[in-house]
Amino acid sequence: MVKEKIPCAVFISGRGTNLKAIYNYSKNNLSKIDLKLVISNKSNVPGVKFARKNKINTKIINYKNKIKAENKILEYLKKYNIRLICLAGFMKILSKTFIKKFKYNILNIHPSLLPKYKGLNTHERAIQNKDQFSGCTVHIVTEKLDSGKIILQKRVKIFKRDNAESLSRKILILENKLYPKAINKLISSL
Ligand code: GAR
Repeated sequence: MVKEKIPCAVFISGRGTNLKAIYNYSKNNLSKIDLKLVISNKSNVPGVKFARKNKINTKIINYKNKIKAENKILEYLKKYNIRLICLAGFMKILSKTFIKKFKYNILNIHPSLLPKYKGLNTHERAIQNKDQFSGCTVHIVTEKLDSGKIILQKRVKIFKRDNAESLSRKILILENKLYPKAINKLISSL
């Protein structure tokens, strides 16, 4: 059982509602993380504005050259002694080299009931296939896209009246609750 808070980084590319949920969780006395760093490949997105407003160290990474970008990120992770990465709507795929070099856990939240619908457009695909349920999954990031060990998953019913947008809204609410729980669960198991 780990007692001290784990220094954590959240990687984002946009809206940042999961970042906000993780931040709120980190502020709770009982939380197991210290949110030390936000990495974004986009400047001026709502997630970056939120991070800056709340005085979290925030680094914008230029992704024109992926190798250079990842090396820069690794420098920051070292500087802040990061022991857990949470991908929260980070729309870049981490290279195998990066995943190998970062020796600790990397978590991701994905808007589907994995192993169904890896990759993009998950809500459209669930509706097109007339699935009865969809949902979200927090899993460990490995070299294979959206395929690592599942930490927690939550499902929601798809109604006839749902479209990709309404489904995505419903699932986002679940995501924002699920991510902190999954972090807690993972760290409790270390
Ligand atoms: C979330 O729905 C997350 O599951 C998804 O991006 C959104 C980010 O929202 N991630 C992926 O699709 C990763 N493959 P947020 O910026 O409000 O947290």
